[in-house]
Amino acid sequence: MKPQHFVGIDIGTSEVRCVVGMHDPKNNQPSIIGHGSSVNHGMRRGAVVNVDEVAESISQAVHEAERIAGVPIRSATINVNGGHVTGVDSQGVIAISAANREITSEDRMRVDDAATIVNLPQNREIVQFFAKYYSLDGQKNIKDPVSMHGIRLEVEAHIVTASSPNMRSLDLALEKAGIEISHHSVSSLASAEAVMTRQQKEAGTILLDIGSGTTNLIVFEDGDVQYVSVIPIGGQHITNDLAIGLKTDLDSAEEVKLKYGTLKEGHKGVSRLIKTEKSGETFISDDVRMIIESRVDELFDLVEKELHKIKKFRKLPGGVVLTGGSAKLPGIVQYAKEKLQLSTRIGRVHGIGGLVDTVEDPSYDTVIGLMILDLLMLPALPQNSSNYSIEGARNVFKSVFGKLKN
Ligand SMILES: Nc1ncnc2c1ncn2[C@@H]1O[C@H](COP(=O)(O)OP(=O)(O)OP(=O)(O)O)[C@@H](O)[C@H]1O
Ligand SMILES: [Mg+2]
Repeated sequence: MKPQHFVGIDIGTSEVRCVVGMHDPKNNQPSIIGHGSSVNHGMRRGAVVNVDEVAESISQAVHEAERIAGVPIRSATINVNGGHVTGVDSQGVIAISAANREITSEDRMRVDDAATIVNLPQNREIVQFFAKYYSLDGQKNIKDPVSMHGIRLEVEAHIVTASSPNMRSLDLALEKAGIEISHHSVSSLASAEAVMTRQQKEAGTILLDIGSGTTNLIVFEDGDVQYVSVIPIGGQHITNDLAIGLKTDLDSAEEVKLKYGTLKEGHKGVSRLIKTEKSGETFISDDVRMIIESRVDELFDLVEKELHKIKKFRKLPGGVVLTGGSAKLPGIVQYAKEKLQLSTRIGRVHGIGGLVDTVEDPSYDTVIGLMILDLLMLPALPQNSSNYSIEGARNVFKSVFGKLKN
């Protein structure tokens, strides 16, 4: 029998990335066997604005990954991103009618289903469903009620919704690229699957995937997703600010950001002159730092606001995990630490083998996580799969279920 392979495609604002993996039975972990990327001009702030350009970019990234992996790619788990993606809390309640009052997995599905019956505007749909905890006859904080006994079963859930026209554009771009969608996931859940440890998910941790057009935020506590949100600000906004502030073009602004961009003050506070290679323009390093700092500060203000909204400001012992290309900005870890008053680190992919060293970059965390989710969603999980995050699998399963319900 041919070994099965799993595919993640991250349709990012700056690039589309594709990763192919397979189960490595020797180490009982996923192993990367191919990857590809292609610049994407068809997105704004995480949402599709030009279907053909996105389709073309998907095709290129997929072909590259196919060539390296030596396998054809027909389907993939893909991400849903953009300012139109929002998370809301929801509750469901059902009565247990079986004579012995024992909760079955069908009852759990039924109560989850009840929590997805929310009043959504016409043009919105549910993309993902996360059960935070269940209550049985008033007893709260039950992780899994199956096999317990009771009459009134309730669920406290977090539901992620997205704009339907945006979802259809995404579907169309994949269809044009000849890729069937296995599952959808918000970018942040995928990034968390790639870099967050079980301990961090239990303790209470926020992950920030700072990309090009967006910052994806996800909060885990007690092992479960508590909150999902997308802030429509990312690295592209820093580049735009530099272009305006330094009165230069976007290419030079990006070059300045990548080469000299930092949030750290110069040695002994001394500013220096910096020069671009392509255009030969000169700028003052302090000006560059201040422009970058004001946008990063705005971003962390918004993150802080989100944490206050869910009453989690300074209340996450697992701290902050940063991923995404803009997490490579020097000094951002220290900046986040001071601003959010929590321990902060850059996420590192763990428990993956194969070509992992060639994709060791925070920009690849989302797509690696999507490949893991694709693997977790297989009808038959690999034998002895205790290393895999089953919560993740269940949550994505629910996402599909939620979509069907919708
Ligand atoms: N060393 C660096 N310093 C600062 N920014 C960087 C660095 N390297 C990459 N970036 C920025 O990271 C961004 C790309 O990140 P990433 O690939 O995670 O975005 P994306 O997934 O395409 O976008 P999104 O998630 O918003 O849809 C770009 O804005 C780029 O300028
Ligand atoms: Mg991204």
